[in-house]
Amino acid sequence: MPPRSFYFLTLFPEVIKAYAQSSMMKKAVDKGILHIEAINIRDFTTDKHNKVDAPPYGGGAGMVLACQPVVDAYRSLLPRLSQHRRVILTSPAGKPFQHAQAKAWSETAQDVVFFCGHYEGFDERIFTLIPEIEDVSIGDFVLTGGELPALSMMDAMARFIPDVVKEADSVMNDSFYYGLLDHPHYTRPAEFEGHKVPDVLLNGDHAKIASWRCEQALIKTRRTRPDMLDE
Ligand SMILES: C[S@@+](CC[C@H](N)C(=O)[O-])C[C@H]1O[C@@H](n2cnc3c(N)ncnc32)[C@H](O)[C@@H]1O
Repeated sequence: MPPRSFYFLTLFPEVIKAYAQSSMMKKAVDKGILHIEAINIRDFTTDKHNKVDAPPYGGGAGMVLACQPVVDAYRSLLPRLSQHRRVILTSPAGKPFQHAQAKAWSETAQDVVFFCGHYEGFDERIFTLIPEIEDVSIGDFVLTGGELPALSMMDAMARFIPDVVKEADSVMNDSFYYGLLDHPHYTRPAEFEGHKVPDVLLNGDHAKIASWRCEQALIKTRRTRPDMLDE
């Protein structure tokens, strides 16, 4: 089986490489489960001063990423992409990325390409030039660049790919999987600075523990995210 591939079109490949070389992503790359690659948009500019951006037409603050280097960087990748791909442009103005997308896309996409913006973002014509692009947001706030959003989405998808997370159960027990937030967790010691672990977790009765955890997950969800219970 070829590795699932995640490609990042970025001006800051070092950010992507640092994450790909840490923790679970590194292990999955070393095992050949994931392929993570950063493509430097600047390598594709035909501008004689190596520029990739320009001021916005109509005036105003900030710079806009020009079409040419971005489109050429993407086209250079095309021969290596399968038909089962997702092409995601990171943008606070995009559709929201949530658990459902992470799970569904991890199940259907062999290759995922992320466009990581900067400054004011991309020239709007990118959507016409590359019609398969979908713009996606990781939340209602604005970051300086698309690298963290893209890495967040990759990480969330990668967790559903078999063997990326050692114990598949831990993925299924996490928040959102069954429509609730996760229950609280405790570890040794049983008492710390006078604060005790709930007795139910110490008595070895697995039915009672399961029922307590379920109840706690409901309480937590009702308190923090009542909207999830409405759904
Ligand atoms: C400063 S932002 C551009 C903001 C854009 N002018 C707007 O107001 O929608 C620069 C880049 O960061 C990324 N970015 C920032 N916030 C994001 C979010 N919430 N979700 C996804 N990408 C985001 C995008 O790649 C974006 O092009």
